[in-house]
Order: sequence, then C-alpha cells, then structure tokens
Amino acid sequence: MLRRIPLRSAASLAAVGVFVLLVLAGCASAEDNPQTTIDPAGAAGEIIQEIYALIWWLALVVFVLVEGALLYVLFRFRGGSRRINGRPVPVHGNTRLEIIWTVIPAIILVIIAVPTLQGIADLSEKEDDAFHIHVIANQFFWQFEYTDILDANGEPIMTSGEMHIPVDQRVELTITSNDVIHSFWVPRLNGKMDAIPGRENHLWLEADVADTFEGQCAEFCGLAHALMRFTVVSHEQADFDAWAQERTAGGGGEDGGEDLAAQGLEIVESTCSACHTVAGTSASGTVGPELSHFASLPQIADVVENTPENLHDWLENPPAVKPGTAMPDLGLTEQQIQALIEYLYTLE
Ligand code: CUA
Repeated sequence: MLRRIPLRSAASLAAVGVFVLLVLAGCASAEDNPQTTIDPAGAAGEIIQEIYALIWWLALVVFVLVEGALLYVLFRFRGGSRRINGRPVPVHGNTRLEIIWTVIPAIILVIIAVPTLQGIADLSEKEDDAFHIHVIANQFFWQFEYTDILDANGEPIMTSGEMHIPVDQRVELTITSNDVIHSFWVPRLNGKMDAIPGRENHLWLEADVADTFEGQCAEFCGLAHALMRFTVVSHEQADFDAWAQERTAGGGGEDGGEDLAAQGLEIVESTCSACHTVAGTSASGTVGPELSHFASLPQIADVVENTPENLHDWLENPPAVKPGTAMPDLGLTEQQIQALIEYLYTLE
C-alpha cells in the first residue's frame, strides 16, 4: 500500500490528466469526422458551438478546482492527529462551506443561462428573405422540395437524399414527416429538429463554404434508422443557380433511342411509377425517392456507392442492401434489371 504520495507528484498527475483531455478534445477534425459537432461551418452551428465552448471551459475550471481541492484534502489531512480512539473525529455541518458551494454553482448557471437563452432566441428567429426548402422524412429516406424553384409545370423541384443549398445564404427549412417521428440533423450546420407527421417544424441553416456535409436521422424510426443518411451540398451562388436551372429543365433521360434504355423507361412507367417520380415521364409516385437525376446521385438508397454493380444488387433484392427499406424485392428478371440500369444512368 502507498503510505504517502508527495503533493508535487499528485499535482503532476492532475496536469497529465488535463493534458490528455485537451489532446482528445483536439482530435475531432471535420475531415476525419464529417459528423463532428464542434467544427461548425455556418452561423447556426457557431451559435451552438460558442455556448458549448463556454460551458466546456467553465466545466474544466470547476473540474480542476474541485479535483485539486479533493487531492489537497486527501493528502494534507491524511492520518491527522484529530482522532478519538484511533478514529477520525466526526464533523457535522459547516455553514460557510455550504453557502459557498450553493452560491458558486448558482452563479455559474446564471453565466451559462444568458448566452443560452440568447442562442435559443437567435436560432428560432425567422428571416423573410431566406431561401426555403421543405424537408419531408420517410421510412427511410429524406425528400427535399425547393419551394422557391419551380419547374416548367409550376411544381417545386425535388431531390432525395441530397439537399442542395447556396453558400452564405440563410436557408429556412420546414420539416415534417410522412410516417413516424424522425429527426433532421446536419451536425456541422445546426442542431437536431424532429420531423413529426402532421406538424411543421422550423430550422435554419447557413453554410460558410462550398462543401458537402453529412446528415443523419437522429431519432430511432425503424429498422433502417441508422441508414437514413443524407448529404447537404452547398454551392457558390452562380453554381447553385446553374444547378437549379438544369433541374427546372425537362428531364426524363433518353426516350427510346436505345432498345435497352427504352425497355427500362417502359418498366419505370409501368412498375416503378407506383412509388417514384421521374421528371419528363409519366412516373409520378410519391411514396419513394424521386429519381429524376439518378445518375448524379452519389449513393443508391443513401447506403452504397452509385455504381452499376451496386444498382444491380439493389434492384435484385433491395432489403438485402438496406434492411427495412419499403422497396420490396420486385422479382425483376435479369433482362429487366439490365434495362433499368441502362435507362437509369441516362438520368443525369
Ligand atoms: Cu428516420 Cu431514424
């Protein structure tokens, strides 16, 4: 057993602990951790980060002071002389100490409350000249409706799994759900917001840079909850306008030029149309993700890379790729699968 540890080594032990904590805290770079919450990339995320940083440093000071006092007392009064029959003297109450450790936490809570309330107010404020996107959660994908960008038919353009926004522009989101409760979360841009059926919740984002941000459903919503991912792509304004322009124009891919692609279009209009929308065709289902620009999606069903091989596996048996998906195994023949692959990659 250790009889006595000198105060100096106790202090260096504590210093090492604090150093390790600081190093660990520095590990979360956005490059290695795309879903980090402590490297915000926009105004809303920064509001949260500032409050978090304030609390973190206050907590560190409290930790060092309390642990320091504890270590000091442990070593300073170890085996002291105030004993009765070899046991420490029982002590009852110390009014001054009790007042101190009640008042100090109260002051700390007030210090935290002021910026917190200010932050809550800033985050719930609405701005009129913002860009609007309607976010609709589904088991298990995200649908985005750009109510400020209308296509030739006057309908808002839509994307699934990928939300496109302009940089340095405030984006107001109206969030709802088609089925159960989900939660919309892009850690580097803002906090979480529940997507609740029959209710519209509001959240705003702003991205400082043209980049890609990872998002994730943050409320358990069923079997494929963990796979309910999405990305937010921020573009410089000119690039965003070009993107929007391209999306408002026609669509539909190649119409019957090549035999196989033509067969694929036929299958899309006869079968896939029950659930999916492809602009420029008769497919206008709303149960599943819209597929108007399938070829440009980075991932299939937000889970595997968008390659012909993966698309083949997906069409052959969707639940094997994304357990819990609403898309059933349609029993497509190899010929039908090939036709769909041919056609879907014409949807740029
Ligand atoms: Cu949707 Cu979890």
